[in-house]
Amino acid sequence: MATLVTGGAGYIGSHTTVALHDAGREVVVLDDFSNASRRVIDAIRSLTGSDLVVVEGDAGDPGVLEPVFARYRIDSVVHFAARKSVSESVADPLGYYRANLGSVIALAAAVVDRGVGRVVFSSSAAVYGATSTLPVTEDSPTAPESPYGATKLMGERILADAAAASQMTAVMLRYFNPVGAHPSGLIGEDPSGEPSNLVPRIMQVASGRRDRLEVFGGDYSTVDGTAVRDYVHVMDLAEGHVSALEADLTPESSRIYNLGTGAGTTVLQMLAEVSDVVGVPIAYEVAPRRPGDPAASWADCTRAHHELGWQARRSLKEMLADHWNLTRPHPEPTDSSPPHPPST
Ligand SMILES: NC(=O)c1ccc[n+]([C@@H]2O[C@H](COP(=O)([O-])OP(=O)(O)OC[C@H]3O[C@@H](n4cnc5c(N)ncnc54)[C@H](O)[C@@H]3O)[C@@H](O)[C@H]2O)c1
Repeated sequence: MATLVTGGAGYIGSHTTVALHDAGREVVVLDDFSNASRRVIDAIRSLTGSDLVVVEGDAGDPGVLEPVFARYRIDSVVHFAARKSVSESVADPLGYYRANLGSVIALAAAVVDRGVGRVVFSSSAAVYGATSTLPVTEDSPTAPESPYGATKLMGERILADAAAASQMTAVMLRYFNPVGAHPSGLIGEDPSGEPSNLVPRIMQVASGRRDRLEVFGGDYSTVDGTAVRDYVHVMDLAEGHVSALEADLTPESSRIYNLGTGAGTTVLQMLAEVSDVVGVPIAYEVAPRRPGDPAASWADCTRAHHELGWQARRSLKEMLADHWNLTRPHPEPTDSSPPHPPST
């Protein structure tokens, strides 16, 4: 039996594919490579020593899904494949609804038809919007600020409804802020363009690809005036998917879990940590707040701990050291860094 991983060549999907392999699972990756390099597949194969099965195609196309389910004995699905830029979703909301919800509907239909037992869905802290109380629990009010966040909340609803009417169990994982890379430095997130996430931007300053960091907002009511987020190592997130596939969730038909560390870090604290890891000061300037950015957001992960037996284990220092290992200038040219556009 195998786990189908849609978007398995992407940032979180590639790490999860490795974690699933390490947990003894067979994996079939389905990816259209719209936001991943094919070299990632070579890197996964070399990390796992396996002949990973990869299907190239659109996870929203029933004509692609049907032969995959017919050919491989799929008993579970992890659905990462999606467009993920908040700003792009504001400019192209219909494109985001079509892509992100079309794939959820097509996949849910295939899963129900084939009697697949479990689907794990990549959701996001973006479903909570800017007004949540802290720490954010799974019962905090949802109020997505962008079409992207809305597609995640709607995707959860579609899967929960499909699960309630069938034998499948749907597990929604709301990620907070994934950071870091596999310690080998062979896979990770190293955007070639303009990243919107903090750590890739800081790393671009650290490696000389950017002059200074723009810190969006210096007048929030936080300890130092800058925004607070919950950063979680991508390897911890990857392991959260293994836990979500393996946990006994009966009699629930669907369940939602926050995946974070439960700790908040300000932008200035993050700058100091990166300086420490990299060994150079990081130049920055304070810029106006970005619309829709909450002052502070960190997760209560008690439910994931109690029900999935999962908690983040890696420290902020490890996240940054692994991220730096991936993005630091290498003496020899490396072809291991996939291109990634801005993410959420
Ligand atoms: N990275 C984050 O900060 C973050 C935070 C919260 C939630 N998420 C969610 O986690 C998931 C994975 O995020 P990521 O950072 O790894 O993104 P990513 O862009 O690196 O990975 C997505 C992968 O899916 C593939 N893909 C996209 N559309 C596809 C389609 N229709 N059919 C087949 N393959 C397709 C891309 O080529 C890519 O390999 C996404 O659903 C994203 O919304 C990400």
